[in-house]
Amino acid sequence: MTGTKTDERGTYKPTPLFKFDSRPRRVQVIPKGTFIDCKNWNKGKIKGKRNILAYIELLDEPVVKNSILQNDVRIDGQWCKTNTNGEFQKVINDNRLFVNSNGFPNEKSYRDENSRNVHTNLWLDAGYNELGKQILDQILGKDNVFPYPKPVELVKEIIKSIDNPEAIVLDFFAGSGTTAQAVLEKNAEDDGQRQFILVTNNEGKIMEEVCYPRVEKIIKGYNFSGKITETLYEENLSFSSLKNTDGILSEVKEIEEENKRSMQFEKIIKEIDDNKIIVYGEKNVKEKREGLGNSVKYYKTAFVGKHNILDADDKDKIQLAHHAGEMLAIAENTLEQIKKNAHWQIFESRERMTAVYFREEQDQLDEFAKEVLSLKKPVTVYMFSWEEKVEIIDFEDNKNINLKTIPQPILEIYKQIYNII
Ligand SMILES: C[S@@+](CC[C@H](N)C(=O)[O-])C[C@H]1O[C@@H](n2cnc3c(N)ncnc32)[C@H](O)[C@@H]1O
Repeated sequence: MTGTKTDERGTYKPTPLFKFDSRPRRVQVIPKGTFIDCKNWNKGKIKGKRNILAYIELLDEPVVKNSILQNDVRIDGQWCKTNTNGEFQKVINDNRLFVNSNGFPNEKSYRDENSRNVHTNLWLDAGYNELGKQILDQILGKDNVFPYPKPVELVKEIIKSIDNPEAIVLDFFAGSGTTAQAVLEKNAEDDGQRQFILVTNNEGKIMEEVCYPRVEKIIKGYNFSGKITETLYEENLSFSSLKNTDGILSEVKEIEEENKRSMQFEKIIKEIDDNKIIVYGEKNVKEKREGLGNSVKYYKTAFVGKHNILDADDKDKIQLAHHAGEMLAIAENTLEQIKKNAHWQIFESRERMTAVYFREEQDQLDEFAKEVLSLKKPVTVYMFSWEEKVEIIDFEDNKNINLKTIPQPILEIYKQIYNII
């Protein structure tokens, strides 16, 4: 979404504290000691009447050190929030003051507040496919990798409405993997433990060439080199704002002149689009983008061996059994396979393990039991059996071991693989 930023507390949108309408001007004081998120704030940046959104004038020169205001600063303007009802004091007390690069004080409104409220104008707020495309092209370092990726903020907004930091988010039409990025970013913002399951038909090799590499890069980080744009100014064109075209034009001119001095951007782009006037700054950057951490596993459905279970040779049977075991590992959320042989498999996650014995013959059972008993984490054990319930004396009364029956569909697979003839 254009205009969102992130601080330690999460993603926020700077919301203007001044409004151009018929409201009266008043002088309010931002008191010494207030926390203010700003890079550089000086009185010269805001002169009376300069802001097209409202009248605003700084009456004192602000001095900010380590984000703390060192003096009382009076501001004369059309304040949206006043202290008559304590609203402005609340902004100060909650450390929500943010001064943007043009010197205008804003309030931080955090996205995780009103967490169940999905914006009615979701697309407008989150940006369109074009923004999703920019994000994706930047990550993969190529142009036009996928025609219609959703913007990440849009999917994050939907995830937010679920209001469960441990949600499992399933996307059956994964495309370029926007859902995975949204889940990973949301987790990074609020320390969530959400997981994602993405499914695709792999049309045009989208999983191998776009989706999976994208998710890996989000997790591990990547080098970015290319153009980035930043929105410096945005104004809806309405009758009241058109009355103030001089103000709009002088605001835009000021941005251009400020950039000539600071050389922050290589190009300033001015656009009128969708009844909005927007000014972007564009620059080339080369930077390392840190990964968000976490892990991902990629499973592929495929025919094994001779495409017919009746013709399967021993090698095919073991491969099939291993794939069936992977499904149990998914169900147990222990995705890392740490051991496999012709009789059993062992998987682990950070906290737990899963052990699967998939053969009817029990000649390797002692070895298997020994291995399971040596594992250092709680283990769920799945044992092939023709009976409905299995019992293994070695595992009895062992609190670390949870013996489970194999779910029927997977049991059927094992039975077919090993006992069909
Ligand atoms: C509109 S895209 C999804 C875009 C995605 N939300 C993103 O942000 O990149 C739809 C995707 O679904 C895939 N697809 C189409 N039919 C499918 C099917 N029957 N099963 C699984 N995926 C399918 C297409 O290959 C395409 O990649």
